Amino acid sequence: MVLDTQEKFVESFCSSDRVRGLTHNFYRYPARFAPEFAKNVILEFSKEGDWVLDAFMGGGTTIVEAIANGRNALGIDINPLAYFIAKVKTTPLSARDQERILHWADRLNFEETTPDRSVMGDPRLRNIPEETRGLLVCAVSTLGQLEFPRQRRFARCALLKLGQWAIDCRKDIPSASHMKRQFLKQVMEMLEGLDDLVQAAKDLGIPKNKITNRRMLYLGTINEAMGDRNFAMFSSTPKLLLTSPPYPGVHVLYHRWQVGGRRETPAPYWLAALKDGHGESYYTLGGRSITGLKNYFIKLTDTFWALRQFIDPNALVVQLVAFSDPDTQLPAFLNAMRSAWYEELTPLENGGSKRPSRKVPNRKWYTYSEKNQHASNEILLFHRPLR
Ligand SMILES: C[S@@+](CC[C@H](N)C(=O)[O-])C[C@H]1O[C@@H](n2cnc3c(N)ncnc32)[C@H](O)[C@@H]1O
Repeated sequence: MVLDTQEKFVESFCSSDRVRGLTHNFYRYPARFAPEFAKNVILEFSKEGDWVLDAFMGGGTTIVEAIANGRNALGIDINPLAYFIAKVKTTPLSARDQERILHWADRLNFEETTPDRSVMGDPRLRNIPEETRGLLVCAVSTLGQLEFPRQRRFARCALLKLGQWAIDCRKDIPSASHMKRQFLKQVMEMLEGLDDLVQAAKDLGIPKNKITNRRMLYLGTINEAMGDRNFAMFSSTPKLLLTSPPYPGVHVLYHRWQVGGRRETPAPYWLAALKDGHGESYYTLGGRSITGLKNYFIKLTDTFWALRQFIDPNALVVQLVAFSDPDTQLPAFLNAMRSAWYEELTPLENGGSKRPSRKVPNRKWYTYSEKNQHASNEILLFHRPLR
C-alpha cells in the first residue's frame, strides 16, 4: 500500500538538525528523535486536538512536540528515568517556582560543602570519580531547600543533566568552578525551554495551567497501561502512533552512564531518586544474543497486538528503527508487525516502493558500535492496523 505524503516530507526526515529547542535539551536520552522529525510527522499525520501516542516514549520528544503543536499526547515507557524526564519536560513552573529554583541554583556552592561520607559510599554512585561524586552528593543534600515537589523534580532533572555532562562518556574531570558555571547556565536554558513550551501552547490557545491535562504518561508496558483504570479513563483513541522501539541488536545504554570508557554507573537513578534494578535487556526488549533477539521479535508482536486494541482502527503507525543486521532483522521486524496484524505502507513521495532511511548524525550509541555501520542507519516505517 502507498501512503500519500506532502512533497518534501521524506526530505525533511533526512535532515540532520541537532536536537534543540523547547525542553528537548533537559536530558540527552539515548537514541532520541530529532524534534524536527517528530514535529513534521505530527503536523503531517494528525490534526489539532488529536491524541498522539508514543508507546516507547523515551525522553518524551513526541510528547513535547505534540503539546507544542496543539495535540494531546499519551506516552508509555518501562524506564522510570524516561517517565521522570518526560514528566519534568512537560510540567510548567510558576514564576515563584522559577525564582526559588534560580535562587537555589545560584547559592549552590560546589566548592565549599563537605559531602556526607555515608552517602559517598552508596553503591549507586559507583565508578564516579570521587571529586565529581562529592559535588553531586553535596548538591543533592540541599534539595530540601526547595518547597514544592515540582521544584525538587525540576532541580533533580537539572542535576541529572549536569551529571550527564560531567560524567557520561567524558574523559576529563570538570572542576568545581566549571560545574558551578555549567549548572547555572543549564538551569537558565532549561527554564527558557519551559517558557518556550508554554508560549508555543499559548499561541495555540492552550493556557499554561492546562498543559499537563494535554498529556498522559504511563510507567510500564502497554499491557499494564491497558489494565490500569486511571489510564483507560483519561485517554482517548490515538489516531497517530509515533514511536521508536529499542533497536534490535544495537547496543544502547538507556539506564547507565558510561564512565571513562568501559565502566558504567547507575547514578542517573540515584540523582533522580528512582528505583533501578533491571539489566540492559529489560530496556531493549531482549538482549543481543540469539535468544535475546528472538525474544525481541516476540515482544514486539505482543506489544503491537495489544496496541491494536488501543489505537483508532485507521491509525497511522510511524516508526523509526535501526538494525545491527538489517538483512535479517528488517524482514523479521516486518514479519513481527504482520503477525500483530498490521500492513506496511510506503510513501508515494519516495517512489511508493522504497523505505526512507537516513544516516544518524553523531549518536552516542553509534560510537559504541563503530564496527557496526548499519546501526547508524535509521529506517522509517509506516503501518496501519489490518481489519
Ligand atoms: C529508542 S528509545 C525511544 C526514544 C524516544 N523516541 C525519544 O525521542 O527519546 C526506546 C525506549 O523503549 C523503552 N522500552 C523498552 N521496552 C519497552 C516496553 N516493553 N514497553 C514500553 N517501553 C519500552 C526503553 O526504555 C526506551 O526508553
